[in-house]
Amino acid sequence: MVGVLRIVDLYSGYGKMKVIQGVSFELGKGEIAAILGPNGAGKTTLLNSVFGLAAIHRGEVYFNGTKITGMKPSEIVKRGLSYSPQLDNVFPNLTVEENLLVGSFIRGRDPSVRADIEDVLELFPEIKRRRHQKAKTLSGGERQMLAVARALMTKPSALLLDEPTAGLSPKAASTLMSKVKEIKETRSVAVLLVEQNVAKALEIAERVAVLVSGRIVKEGSAEEFKAVQVESLFFTGK
Ligand SMILES: Nc1ncnc2c1ncn2[C@@H]1O[C@H](COP(=O)(O)OP(=O)(O)O)[C@@H](O)[C@H]1O
Ligand SMILES: [Mg+2]
Repeated sequence: MVGVLRIVDLYSGYGKMKVIQGVSFELGKGEIAAILGPNGAGKTTLLNSVFGLAAIHRGEVYFNGTKITGMKPSEIVKRGLSYSPQLDNVFPNLTVEENLLVGSFIRGRDPSVRADIEDVLELFPEIKRRRHQKAKTLSGGERQMLAVARALMTKPSALLLDEPTAGLSPKAASTLMSKVKEIKETRSVAVLLVEQNVAKALEIAERVAVLVSGRIVKEGSAEEFKAVQVESLFFTGK
C-alpha cells in the first residue's frame, strides 16, 4: 500500500492534556478508510492533530512522504490535504456559491476557481439548485454536502471528514456516503472518514480502525469487520 497519509505513534491533545495515546494509521492512495469510535474517543482530536490544530506530544504525521507535524493548517492545505470539520463547517449567512468561493481562497487568484465551482456543483445537484440560497436554509444533508464540496475547493488529494452523517436521516446519510465514494472514484481523492455511525461508514470504507479512549483497539479490512460487533468494542475496548 502506498500511504498518502501516515500517522506514526502519535501522542497528542490540548496543552498538556493527553487525548491520543500512541496511534499509528496509514491511509492508502485513493482509499477510503474509516476510524470508528464512541463519543469522546478522540476522533476529532486525531484529525485536529493531523491538521495542525492540536498539541503534538510525540510521534509524526507524514503526507505524501513529507513530515507535516508542526506545520500550520494553511501550509498543510496547500500540500493537498483538506478537512471538513464536525462543527461550523459552513458559513450559514453566506450562499452555497459564496461558501465554495471562500473554500478556494487559499488558492489565491487562480483563474480555474470558477470552473471548479461548477465542477463540484455537478457532483452535488441537490445543492446546485440552491446555489444562491444561504447555507442556513439548507437541510442537514444538503449542508453536509456543501461542507464536503467546500473542502474539495482546495483541490485536495486527500480529505479528512469528521462525522459527516451526524444528525442525518438514514437515507440522507446513505446518499452522502455514496457521494463520498463517487468523489474517491472520479477525482482519485483518498478519504479518511471519522464516524460513530458504524453501519453507514461500512457502506463505503475499505479499511477500518476502531478508536477507544485515544487508542486503536482493532484494525482490519471492511470485509473482516462485517462479522465484528463494532459497537460492543466501543464499550469494552476489546
Ligand atoms: N478543545 C479542547 N480542549 C480540551 N479538551 C478537549 C478539546 N476538545 C476535546 N477535548 C477532550 O478530548 C477528548 C476527546 O474528544 P474528541 O476528540 O472531541 O472526541 P470524539 O471526536 O471522538 O467525540 C474528550 O475528553 C474531550 O473532552
Ligand atoms: Mg468528534
